[in-house]
Amino acid sequence: MAPAHSPLVFSGMQPTGNLHLGNYLGAIRNWVKLQETHPCLYCIVDLHAVTVFQDPKELRDSIRAAAAAYIASGIDPEKHIVFNQSQVSAHAELAWVFNCVARIGWLNRMTQFKEKAGKNRENASAGLFVYPNLMAADILAYKATHVPVGEDQKQHLELSRDIAQKFNTDYGVPDFFPLPEPVITGPATRVMSLRDGTQKMSKSDPSDYSRINLTDDADAIALKVRKARTDPDPLPSEPAGLVGRAEAENLVSIYAALSDQSAEDVLRDFGGAQFSDFKKALSDVAVETLVPLTDEMNRLLQDPSEIDAILAKGAGRARELAEPILRDVYDVVGFIRG
Ligand code: AMP
Ligand code: TRP
Repeated sequence: MAPAHSPLVFSGMQPTGNLHLGNYLGAIRNWVKLQETHPCLYCIVDLHAVTVFQDPKELRDSIRAAAAAYIASGIDPEKHIVFNQSQVSAHAELAWVFNCVARIGWLNRMTQFKEKAGKNRENASAGLFVYPNLMAADILAYKATHVPVGEDQKQHLELSRDIAQKFNTDYGVPDFFPLPEPVITGPATRVMSLRDGTQKMSKSDPSDYSRINLTDDADAIALKVRKARTDPDPLPSEPAGLVGRAEAENLVSIYAALSDQSAEDVLRDFGGAQFSDFKKALSDVAVETLVPLTDEMNRLLQDPSEIDAILAKGAGRARELAEPILRDVYDVVGFIRG
C-alpha cells in the first residue's frame, strides 16, 4: 500500500543569538544530509523567537545570520525551501486552530516551558505557553512527515503528533494530518558545554567559553578547545572507558561527529593519548570544518538584500504549499470562505 502522505521534511530554528556547534552538529548538519533523499523546508522561526522579548534590530540581524548559516552549511535554497516563518501567515492561522485542539494539561507537561518560564510563570508570555502548538502548525501546515531535531525537541514533537491525531479524530478525517516523526541522528545529538559535561551547549550559557559559536575564528576555536574542561586521565581505548567522564565523552563525540567517524574509531586512534594532544587534533578538525563555514556566512552577510530576496522567494514557495492545506483545514472545521 502506498503511504498516505508523501515524505516531506520540515525543520526550524529560532533566530536568537549566536548559533553554535550544538546547533550545527545536532541539527543543521543533519538537515543538509536529508536534502539528498527528501524534499525539505527549512524555516527560521521568528514567530517563536518573540515568545520572549527581542530587540527588533537584533531580531532582524539574527534572522539574516540564521539564513546565512543555513546556506553556508550547505542548504540549497534553490532545490529546497528556506524562509522565515512570519512571511507565511498560514503558520499563525493554523496555530490558532491548534490552540483550540491542544489541551492545557498537555501544555502543562512541557519541560521546555517550565525551564524557560522559570519560577515566575505568571510573568511568562502566553505565547511561550502555546509555543508547541505553533511548532505543530509549522510542521502540519505542509503535512510534513519527518522532522530532524535534537533530543531536546522530542517532547514537542510528541505533542505535534497528539495534536494531529486529535484533530483527525475530532473532525472525523482519519488521515488528514500525518503523524510527524522525529529524525534524531548522528553521533552528537546532544553536544555538551565545554565547561561542564553535564550541561547542554547552549546560547543562553553566560560563559562564552562553554560553546563554539559559528562566528568564532580559528584563534577563538583553538583557545576554547584548549580551555575545555577535562579530567586528568588519558583517553581510554574504547567507549566503555568514557562512562562517568562526561567531559571526555563530550570531546570524543564532538571529534567523532566533526570527522565523520564513530567514537570507537576515534578511541582506537587516541586511546592512551593525553588530552593536550587530543585537544590539538580536535581543534584542528573543528577549525577545518567551521572556519570555511564562517567565512561563507560572513560573505553572505555582506549583502543583506540578497539574503532577504532568498527568504522572500522561499516564503512565496512555502505559501503555495501551505495555502491549499489551510483552506482544507478551514473547510473541515466549518468556516465559511467567500
Ligand atoms: P535552540 O538553539 O535550542 O533553539 O535549538 C535549535 C536546534 O538545535 C534544535 O533542533 C536543537 O535540538 C538543536 N540543538 C541546540 N542545542 C544543541 C546541543 N547542545 N546539542 C545538540 N543539538 C542542539
Ligand atoms: N522549537 C524548536 C527549537 O526550539 C524550533 C522549532 C519551531 C521547530 N518550529 C519547529 C523545529 C518545527 C522543528 C519543526 O529548537
